Amino acid sequence: MTREYSNISMAVIRRLPKYHRYLKDLLDQETYRISSKELSKLIGFTASQIRQDLNCFGGFGQQGYGYNVEELYNEIGKILGLYQSYPTVIVGAGNLGQAIANYTNFDKFGFSTLALFDSNPKMIGMRIRDIAVHDVDQLEEFIKKNQVRIGVICTPKKVAQDVATKLSEAGVQGIWNFAPIDIKVPEEIIVENVHLSESLFTLSFLLSQEFDQE
Ligand code: NAI
Repeated sequence: MTREYSNISMAVIRRLPKYHRYLKDLLDQETYRISSKELSKLIGFTASQIRQDLNCFGGFGQQGYGYNVEELYNEIGKILGLYQSYPTVIVGAGNLGQAIANYTNFDKFGFSTLALFDSNPKMIGMRIRDIAVHDVDQLEEFIKKNQVRIGVICTPKKVAQDVATKLSEAGVQGIWNFAPIDIKVPEEIIVENVHLSESLFTLSFLLSQEFDQE
């Protein structure tokens, strides 16, 4: 996050990707102007929540006009730090690492996967969507040489802390951690965890509440 936005709460920041996604859909449908009320119907946040959120950044709406969809989309993208350059590496070239490497959509926002790393000799030398899998022993050297900013951890849990330490010592600024452990790294390194199972278990809770009484 740039310092300009450091006073904005994480709760607001976490809503921004959703605004960004819906605004993109509107642009794709050639909708160029929208009121907070209409946006509220689409997104499911209240109109006042939307006005409050967007006011945090100086407010892009105009009384009686609503929001300029394209301007808002671009501004939110900028606030989110998209379209900068984020050289990225993926550690662990198994099922998940390959799935992420194969997903091309991140590239257009600036996240370019330069390499994958694995410890399994059978994986080394493979190419996933034209991205080479290297020996994990070369990780630190590669990060330094290529000024890698983001490391993605897709290894088994038991080696994830070791990988996180290597990534941070080599100089990454951020870690996107998929391994099911809370990694510990120096506080200047930003860690974002993704745990699909937490979302799945929430679904399971809601399903069991809904249907177990039947
Ligand atoms: P996988 O077994 O297909 O792939 C793991 C890869 O890591 C293998 O290719 C293995 O050779 C490599 N590896 C092992 N030790 C290594 C090391 N020290 N350095 C570099 N590479 C190493 O496993 P899968 O299914 O891709 O899962 C990977 C991780 O992601 C696991 O920790 C799993 O629990 C987690 N996971 C997380 C999800 C989430 O929502 N966050 C969803 C699915 C998996």
